[in-house]
Amino acid sequence: MVMDDKYTILVVDDEKDNLQLFIRTLRKDYNVLSAERGSDGIEILKNNRIDAVLSDHKMPEMEGTEFLKYAYEINPEAVRILITAFADAEILRDAINAGKIHRYLKKPWTPKDLLNVVSACLEIYQLNRDNQKLANDLKELFSGTISAIMEALDAKDPYTSGRSKRVTFYALRMGEELGLSDERLSELELAGLLHDIGMIGVPVNIITKPGELTDEEYELVKGHTIIGMKILEEIKQLNHVIKIVGCHHEHYSGEGYPYGLKREEIPVESQIIAVADAYDGLISERAYRASLSHEEAKRRIQGASGSQFSPAVVEAFSKVINSAAEEIKNFNMDKLDISNKIDDTVKVEIKLGEMNKPAGETEPT
Ligand SMILES: [Fe+2]
Repeated sequence: MVMDDKYTILVVDDEKDNLQLFIRTLRKDYNVLSAERGSDGIEILKNNRIDAVLSDHKMPEMEGTEFLKYAYEINPEAVRILITAFADAEILRDAINAGKIHRYLKKPWTPKDLLNVVSACLEIYQLNRDNQKLANDLKELFSGTISAIMEALDAKDPYTSGRSKRVTFYALRMGEELGLSDERLSELELAGLLHDIGMIGVPVNIITKPGELTDEEYELVKGHTIIGMKILEEIKQLNHVIKIVGCHHEHYSGEGYPYGLKREEIPVESQIIAVADAYDGLISERAYRASLSHEEAKRRIQGASGSQFSPAVVEAFSKVINSAAEEIKNFNMDKLDISNKIDDTVKVEIKLGEMNKPAGETEPT
């Protein structure tokens, strides 16, 4: 493994003289590893951090396009350049489709051509790596901030600690039963984790009050739906779950809050979270009452089908809740990690695919 900060290039060519010419041309600026056969090149790729792969096309054991296909499978990040004397359409089509090459260089080439092509590819490669790092840093910062808010929320009320993760767990089982797409399940997961984020704005003495709430206090608690939406409005990457979060206390009958929406006016994801939230609340000990048994909680949820809750969602709940209640005992809640839900929302990287088209032939000058 080469440890300095030069890029490392792997060159594969069955002709020794050509290989020497590549090495002589490139070694001043780059670390160069070489192989005379594709199979040897594959071994080098498996055991080294390679930034760029150059391969001759016409080789006896394994053609360049086939080798580059393996190179892509082993290390998709690396730049791939095909060297060929025959720039015919079929070879290039294979190289682009299977080997996902970034450029090709037509023989005969001059050292200047080679260096130009390699440095142009590596420049974009580096830009992509820098942007990827920036995106990862942003994602980390972002998920760290959200996790800190969730932890602050848990800390406000010891009785509800870990609640959003449990609610999300039950909600996902129901969402799967209802046949939601992967994309919607992903939104359901994010919304489940964040559904009570607005509680951060409710005074702690109200959240932990052992007795019954006054009307005024109850109004303040109800405000957590609106506060939650306002918090999420400020975070562009979470805008798509605002409505789901805001509607998790709406009732199927139209008697919920904050808007009094009913039936299909309420997002299905909110209807699911409402049931999951109610179930978890019933089986959990609270400041003002002891926990109910699983069976009793289930009966109460089923009893509110068609009034507080959607019948379809309660039906899904009834099908999954026994096994979900067992499963959650052994489930590692760290798996419900907000950071893996925002992959698709932070989009600052430049896709390597943008350079994944040969920029015309690079003719010898
Ligand atoms: Fe809530």
